[in-house]
Amino acid sequence: MQKVASLPLPPQDALEASNALALCIGDAIDAGGGWIGFDRYMSMALYAPRLGYYSGGAAKFGRDARDGSDFITAPELTPFFARTLARQFAPLIAERLPAVMEFGAGTGRLAADLLLALETEGALPSRYAIVELSGELRERQRQTLTERAPHLADRVVWHDTLPERFEGVIVGNEVLDAMPVRLFAREGGRWYERGVRREGAAGFAYQDRVLADAEIPAAIAAIPGDHDMVTETHAEAEGFIRAVGAMLARGVAFFIDYGFPASEYYHPQRSGGTLMCHYRHHAHPDPFLYPGLQDITAHVNFTGVAEAAVEAAMQVAGFCSQARFLMNAGITELLMTLDPNDTRAFLPAANAVQKLLSEAEMGELFKVIALSRGMRMIDGDDHDAPALAGFQRGDRTHSL
Ligand SMILES: C[S@@+](CC[C@H](N)C(=O)[O-])C[C@H]1O[C@@H](n2cnc3c(N)ncnc32)[C@H](O)[C@@H]1O
Repeated sequence: MQKVASLPLPPQDALEASNALALCIGDAIDAGGGWIGFDRYMSMALYAPRLGYYSGGAAKFGRDARDGSDFITAPELTPFFARTLARQFAPLIAERLPAVMEFGAGTGRLAADLLLALETEGALPSRYAIVELSGELRERQRQTLTERAPHLADRVVWHDTLPERFEGVIVGNEVLDAMPVRLFAREGGRWYERGVRREGAAGFAYQDRVLADAEIPAAIAAIPGDHDMVTETHAEAEGFIRAVGAMLARGVAFFIDYGFPASEYYHPQRSGGTLMCHYRHHAHPDPFLYPGLQDITAHVNFTGVAEAAVEAAMQVAGFCSQARFLMNAGITELLMTLDPNDTRAFLPAANAVQKLLSEAEMGELFKVIALSRGMRMIDGDDHDAPALAGFQRGDRTHSL
C-alpha cells in the first residue's frame, strides 16, 4: 500500500478495509490478464460493495480534516445554495411538475434545505426521491432529514436504481464528476489507454496499452498537435445521462459540477488531464493511495453530457457558470434578507456565498447545465413552463 508522508495516516480499521479492497482489485487485475482499464479501477475504488469510498464508512463530506472528512460541497457550505435552487425550481413545481428527484444526495443537506426552502416558496413537492447507491449515505440522509426537516421527512423516498418513468425536477450536485472515467495518454505522437497493473506486494501502478487507430475515441483523436498529454473520456457519465433521458417523461434535470465544454476540455494546452483525488482536504493526483479511503474525481465534459442528452431526446435548456446561475436565480437578494448589522449571522453567510460565486473559487470552474424533456420553456403566452431564470444572463449553450 502506498503512503505519502505529508498526508495523515488512516486509522487501523480503515487501513484494513483498504487492504481488503486492494485484494479484490488485485484479483480483478489478475482476471484481466494483469491489466484493467482505469475506469474499472475507479469504479471498484469508489463503489465496490461495503469497501468502496462511497459504499463504505468514510466520513467524506465536512468542513476540515479534524472530523475525518475529505472535501466540502456547496450544499454543505451554506443553505443559500439550496435556497437559490429552490427559487429556480419553485415555478417549475408550480407548473405541474410536482416531484423532485436528487441523485447522490451526500449527507442529505441539499434535500433537507431544498424541502425547507420550497416550503417557504409555497412550492412543496409531493414527493422527493433520492437515488443513492450507498446504504451508509442513505442512513446519513435519513438522519439529516429527521434533524433538519422532521415535518417534511415523510415526503422523501429512496431508490437504488432509476425508476422506469419520472415527471418532475431532477438535481445532481457533484455527481457526474464521481463517475468512472477512462484514461488516455499520448506519448511520442501515439495514443495509449492508461490502465492499472499490480505494483509490489499490495500496490498498483499505471500501465499504458497501445491503441489501434480504430480504438482511439473520436473526442481525443481530434486533439491537434503531437505533444505528450494525458486526458479522460466519460462513457459512464454519458450513459447515465442517456438513462436519465429514457426515464424523464416530462421535466427538467439540473446538473452542477466542475468541468468545461469539449473545446476547453480537450484543448491541446490542457495536457495533464483533470484526474484528482481528495483525502482529508488535501487534493493530490495519486489514485492508488489508500484505495477506498479517498475520493477520485475527474472534471465533466459538458459537451459530452449535452450530446448524450440530445441522443436521449432531451434538450439543452441552459448552460452557464455556477456564479451566473446563482446570481440570475437571486442568491444576492436572498443574502440581503439577513441583517448586515447582525455580523455573527451575516458575515459567515456572506463568506460562504462569496465562495460559491468567486471566479477564483467555485464560481467559474463549476457549471450548471439544464436538460429538459417534454417542456416548452419560452416567455410569452405560448408556453407550458416559465423560462429558466438561472440562465437569463450569461447562457453559454452555444459553447457546447
Ligand atoms: C461528490 S459526492 C456529492 C454528494 C452530494 N451531492 C453533495 O453535493 O454533497 C458524489 C455522489 O454521487 C453519487 N453517485 C455516483 N454515481 C451515481 C449514480 N449513478 N447514481 C446516483 N448517485 C451516484 C455517489 O454515490 C456520491 O454520493
